[in-house]
Amino acid sequence: MKVRTQQRCLILALETSCDETSAAVIADGRTVLSNIISSQISVHQKFGGVVPEIASRKHIENVIGVVDEALHTAGAVLQDMAAIGVTYGPGLVGALLVGVSAAKALAFAADLPLVGVNHLEGHMFANFLAHPELQPPFVSLVVSGGHTSLVHVREYNSFALLGQTRDDAAGEAFDKIARVMKLPYPGGPHIDRLAKTGNPHAFPFPRALTGENSFEFSFSGLKSAVVNFLHNAEQRGETVQAADIAASFQAAVVDVLTEKTVRAAQNNQVDQVVLAGGVAANSYLQRELEGRCRQAGIKLYFPPPILCTDNAAMIASRAYYQYLAGDLADLHLNAVPALQLGTK
Ligand code: KG4
Ligand code: ZN
Repeated sequence: MKVRTQQRCLILALETSCDETSAAVIADGRTVLSNIISSQISVHQKFGGVVPEIASRKHIENVIGVVDEALHTAGAVLQDMAAIGVTYGPGLVGALLVGVSAAKALAFAADLPLVGVNHLEGHMFANFLAHPELQPPFVSLVVSGGHTSLVHVREYNSFALLGQTRDDAAGEAFDKIARVMKLPYPGGPHIDRLAKTGNPHAFPFPRALTGENSFEFSFSGLKSAVVNFLHNAEQRGETVQAADIAASFQAAVVDVLTEKTVRAAQNNQVDQVVLAGGVAANSYLQRELEGRCRQAGIKLYFPPPILCTDNAAMIASRAYYQYLAGDLADLHLNAVPALQLGTK
């Protein structure tokens, strides 16, 4: 059966900000028709982290094939699209440039509007794909490998940054501790799994900036405390239970994230909280935040794991709402590696 796409507003989006080359087609901002993700994790794993130069080269090799597959899977052609969305920041400059250049070429060739999307805004909009009933206003906790931010989403195109990390991102801390514990990259999912059999109260690792009336975060002190603890134990020849370390570290991160998120929702008088970004896939964070939100009469939303980590469907959802608002880019669109949330 041929899918009737004519009446729907279709968006093709590209995402190449880090180590996933992704293209997706979505309908009316909310329905995923295809979401193709070519992950480079296996390429970067042997280096223990993303190598920017290799990431750019892999994006170049993969981007056209991924776009073709996204269109094919959606049963659509380029001319069916209403617009093309692309992540233009934040991220690795060389990686972003591949997606931006490809999207500009496609938009020019098919004479379609181009929409430049902020990657972090895309992460929040992943929730619109998973939860048809969700609408602003809400407070969103964006926790990824590069960012930890609390955002008040007042309307689809109106955001206020409430606070962000002063140093490391939550995901960066997960990946660093995993590396020291000799777990594979990216470490977040491995810590999550290991922590399930550990005691979260085994070691009282520090919780920074709690109890303060601020929505800023800091994870570098926690990271150093865990690394020093492991080194000292090693030097003394002591064996520590890896699962207890993982669980105690994870609990320290999650305590801070949940406390500040619930307070941010209450301070801004919203009764919905939206988790976003790769770390939103963390099972302990989901469970703890769910419990704290329930106590406070707040409804919690988070995306399924595939929409938590980097993907182009979330970029397409954000692009759709920008397209409706007439927020379009032109062929001068450039990569902005340090793009801030809610800015142009
Ligand atoms: O959003 P994302 O895919 O990429 C960035 O925009 O950074 O996030 C990747 C981050 C990595 O640090 C990864 O370790 C972390 O998300 N992550 C997790 C989990 N799954 C992915 N961290 C904790 N628990 C998880 N289950
Ligand atoms: Zn991301």
